[in-house]
Amino acid sequence: MSNLFFYHEPVMLKEAIKMLAIDGDGVYIDGTFGNGGHTQVILESNPHATVIAIDKDPMAVRKSSIFKHIYQERFTFINDCFSNMDCILKNFLSANVKVKGIFLDLGISSVQIESPDRGFSFNIKSKLDMRMDNTNHNISADEVIKNSKEKDLQDIFSRFGEEKLSKKIVKKIIFERKSGDINTVKLSRIIDSIKSKTSKQPSTKIFQALRIYVNSELDVLCKVLRKVNSILEKKGRVVVLSFHSLEDRIVKNFFSDNSVKGSHAILNESESASKNKAIFQTSPPSPMAPTINEQAENPRSRSAVLRMGIKRSL
Ligand SMILES: C[S@@+](CC[C@H](N)C(=O)[O-])C[C@H]1O[C@@H](n2cnc3c(N)ncnc32)[C@H](O)[C@@H]1O
Repeated sequence: MSNLFFYHEPVMLKEAIKMLAIDGDGVYIDGTFGNGGHTQVILESNPHATVIAIDKDPMAVRKSSIFKHIYQERFTFINDCFSNMDCILKNFLSANVKVKGIFLDLGISSVQIESPDRGFSFNIKSKLDMRMDNTNHNISADEVIKNSKEKDLQDIFSRFGEEKLSKKIVKKIIFERKSGDINTVKLSRIIDSIKSKTSKQPSTKIFQALRIYVNSELDVLCKVLRKVNSILEKKGRVVVLSFHSLEDRIVKNFFSDNSVKGSHAILNESESASKNKAIFQTSPPSPMAPTINEQAENPRSRSAVLRMGIKRSL
């Protein structure tokens, strides 16, 4: 089904664009193009800005062709994983051109969640899949549920969903899978039967765990963060919007391991030398949460955390 029928409401749009501080003829990377909500505002906010947009989901390709038609040479789209950002840029930028801003809006879009054949949602009956790039040969959530050993499934649910009732849920899955395939709705019923008294949205954590595992989401996030320093120009910015504590912890630790907090940002030479790991400067308003109004209007934004680091000019 075409993604053009669905809409994704961009989260913390104004705040993210303000943090990126779009400036002159800069090159910006949107590593999670999706439906193009953030890319569009970057391109509209400065007529000389250029965006290189990346998304691993083939559904983003159709939307990107509309952008190409409108913004022409100011817009380039690459259907790939953002963790390959450094290699991708080698093909599109000459060696001396650096990037002014990198933006990542992690996770999946409403377009993906609502697509009936992608198996992301516990509210839509479908085969479990959850691969963002469903053209590759990576294993799907269906194969994970079908073939994983009891201990491995438990590990996935505990690590990536922080689900306390993993053990009981896995036992039930192992029992139920003997009598046939487990689709999205069946998996949700299994979880409900164990968790319904303890949770309002019983399936959220298990579905999150499967999605993170299938797409190696935490690994690719670590991988791209290790690359941003070499991609950004001095004073360039990296802005990351995350939606659950596991990914936010990675971003938070990345900045605290590699940065000087705003109040200590002006260092003398010897202090700077001893802080040679301090690549980024972080300062308020980062981290930032959505306003109460946005949370009410767009419930998907409720768990969002926006963080930003500025590459120091030392
Ligand atoms: C929350 S959506 C982005 C929405 C977008 N900012 C907008 O306003 O339309 C996240 C997008 O990132 C993509 N994505 C997630 N992980 C990715 C990765 N490792 N590499 C490339 N794209 C990724 C997903 O396929 C999805 O389209």
